[in-house]
Amino acid sequence: MPAFKELVFSGVQPTGNLHLGNYLGAIKRFVAMQAQFDCLYCVVDLHAITVWQDPAELTRQIREVTAAFLAAGIDPARSVVFNQSQVPQHAELAWIFNCVARLGWLNRMTQFKEKAGKDRENASIGLYDYPVLMAADILAYRATHVPVGEDQKQHLELTRDIAQKFNNDFAGAIQQQGHGEAFFPITEPLIGGPAARVMSLRDGTKKMSKSDPSDYSRINLTDDSDGIATKVRKAKTDAEPLPSETAGLEKRPEADNLVGIFAALNDVSREDVLREYGGAQFSAFKGALVDLAVAKLGPIGAEMKRLVADPGHIDAVLADGAARAEAIAAPNIAAVKDIVGFVRRR
Ligand code: AMP
Ligand code: TRP
Repeated sequence: MPAFKELVFSGVQPTGNLHLGNYLGAIKRFVAMQAQFDCLYCVVDLHAITVWQDPAELTRQIREVTAAFLAAGIDPARSVVFNQSQVPQHAELAWIFNCVARLGWLNRMTQFKEKAGKDRENASIGLYDYPVLMAADILAYRATHVPVGEDQKQHLELTRDIAQKFNNDFAGAIQQQGHGEAFFPITEPLIGGPAARVMSLRDGTKKMSKSDPSDYSRINLTDDSDGIATKVRKAKTDAEPLPSETAGLEKRPEADNLVGIFAALNDVSREDVLREYGGAQFSAFKGALVDLAVAKLGPIGAEMKRLVADPGHIDAVLADGAARAEAIAAPNIAAVKDIVGFVRRR
């Protein structure tokens, strides 16, 4: 495999409230990666419309996710912050990848099955094709690293399969046109840390999600201190005190989840948390978790509110990011068209 320039890409959908799972599994890690890599962070509005979105609400949510990126510490001067629909190369590459990806591969995607539910005949074609667009997002930039939560693992495997098949199918042209062995990198998923899968506060076996009907199941980035405190105090637990070793968290999904959340918020491991709170009752631990969550999330929520009050500023950030993103993607897609054998406008 030839060396590709290290580049980070990730995306978040502008649908529903951003919650603690999005923050700890994704956005907080996006912020940290800026120190080490060149990064692109995308508000994936084309993905959002794979299920029905009210237009005015979609507009609001695109700005709100952008505000969350900035409030959490993504620096738009350093990283490229933009929304997908402003950069036409995503949709363009997705079409070419539609002709590379196989029906059999997409038929295995578990997220489509979950999202389409029982009424699969009535799901949009876009929902089925969602993972192909995701591969195009990443590979339009030839990104090498993608930080995401665990629920995206299968989609990233598909991205790798598409890159591999494109590199193989077009190996001759890729070589001939001076790109060496491979045009696309085989992207590394970066999934991990204590909060790769944050669970619902009401049920430790279910993922914390934007679509859970109970708002008590999640902490939203826009919740105020009282809201955070109430939700943590009401969070489901079992009757035992906390164990002093992580082995003691097995088969205790709610305890495991709260310890994982504490660890991720405080940048320590589950082991570190249990060293301090092993033997503690949940009432005491929850008190400490409320203080920690309010201290870490409160300022982000406040900054988000301040930013969304100035949509002109957010739109300027997105426009600047889109121009910088397109400057990277456009030559890549032009090269893809040559590799495929299309005739270019000259
Ligand atoms: P989405 O809101 O579906 O666009 O997700 C945005 C990012 O948040 C993706 O990287 C997801 O993997 C991540 N994510 C969503 N829910 C959770 C969760 N419950 N725990 C950890 N990461 C999550
Ligand atoms: N599918 C991702 C999610 O729902 C969002 C996404 C779209 C994404 N394109 C991406 C994530 C590219 C990483 C890279 O969470």
